[in-house]
Amino acid sequence: MGKIERGSFGSRLGIVLATAGSAVGLGNVWRFPYMTGQNGGAAFLLLYVACIMVLGVPGMVSEFIVGRHAQANAAHAYDKLSGGRPWKLVGYLGILTSTIILGFYAVVAGWCLQYLWAAVAKPGMATKDYFADFSTDAVQPVLWAVAFILLTHVVIVRGVRRGIERASKWLMPILLVLLLVLVVASCTLPGAADGIRFLLWPDFSKLSSRVLLEALGQAFFSLSLGTACLCTYASYFTRTTNLLHAAGQIALLDALIAVCAGLMIFPAAAAVGISPDSGPSLIFITLPSVFQQAFAAVPIVGYVISVMFYALLVFAALTSTISMHEIGTAFFTEEFRLPRSRSAWVITCVAGVLSVFCAWSVGALPGLQVMGRSLMDFCDQLTANFMLPLGGMLVCLFVGWYIPKRVVYEEFTNDGALNRRYFRLFLFAVRFVCPICIALIFLHQLGVL
Ligand code: PHE
Repeated sequence: MGKIERGSFGSRLGIVLATAGSAVGLGNVWRFPYMTGQNGGAAFLLLYVACIMVLGVPGMVSEFIVGRHAQANAAHAYDKLSGGRPWKLVGYLGILTSTIILGFYAVVAGWCLQYLWAAVAKPGMATKDYFADFSTDAVQPVLWAVAFILLTHVVIVRGVRRGIERASKWLMPILLVLLLVLVVASCTLPGAADGIRFLLWPDFSKLSSRVLLEALGQAFFSLSLGTACLCTYASYFTRTTNLLHAAGQIALLDALIAVCAGLMIFPAAAAVGISPDSGPSLIFITLPSVFQQAFAAVPIVGYVISVMFYALLVFAALTSTISMHEIGTAFFTEEFRLPRSRSAWVITCVAGVLSVFCAWSVGALPGLQVMGRSLMDFCDQLTANFMLPLGGMLVCLFVGWYIPKRVVYEEFTNDGALNRRYFRLFLFAVRFVCPICIALIFLHQLGVL
């Protein structure tokens, strides 16, 4: 089982950083604001945070437990722990989910690359209409999306993740600082107050079972939970990693970045008259105005900040796409004993083709629809609102009811050394709270309840 490849993560800190890198990405900066915008603002934010804390953290710890205990790729990990029972289907589900996500995520990451290029080469060009212009082009968005997947491929095959991990140690904090600068810039624009109110003042009349499902989906998407991605990364954790702490810290960081992104987008959108429910283009049509208006007095500052921001966004997206790609690559390498580069090509080709069609479905070929929505939207909704919660629910059931309690205890407490106090609470959460809540949300959405 390719020891050399399994051990390829840098340091202990490196692997936790890589896991955080997987969690923090476009899910926080792009998807969270647009979901919040479409689902009524503050009430959605509250539900999202509740889902992260109550369902997300136990779910993450469960995936960590499976991965670290089994020390194998997603499907093999479930197989190893389930003694021939079909639990490995959960691993397959995760691999499928992450490859679909990679397909449509690359389109958005490609948009970020396009904006980075525009910010560098054509400052001031990227105005409100720029998005509609380039995203409906038949070639450009496709090229950028494929370029992004190839970039991910190179990192995966070359094994330059160590470099990426080391870089993320610096770049992630810089992203956070820059976000804070943009929060201040955006909140001080004239007319920003409405946007702040929208994000922070809950209107509970907006709540519905649909909003609850969207919040759950967003929480899982943003934590990378339910794809077996956390399970795959945890297989590289050491015996001394404190699983509960790692999950708690990552969840906190993830929610913090999402809230900052919201505070950056909504005040600015209110200030320039963009509707919060503009959908997936929201950050792309809002941000250029922030750079232009907030820094109008010193355009060079606007220029530098915009270039840095898009570059960091690309980097954050890359640390996430690496994790999605890694799941499938590790699976094919270890299960079929393919050379790593060949397994990587399998994932790259599948996701690459999907990304081309997704990009067209929101641009040049609007007729490319599945069940009344664009292919891109369909993939997004299918994975976030169905496959991820399902994967998360199954992993909780697996850890709560199937794996021997002793194994769960040993992993949770690092052989009795820590977190003993929380063990019962954790077990209660994964046995009852998580599966029941997720099942209720599903049933309600299906109209059964
Ligand atoms: N969590 C990532 C983000 O917020 C997206 C992701 C989903 C990554 C699923 C891996 C698996 O951008």
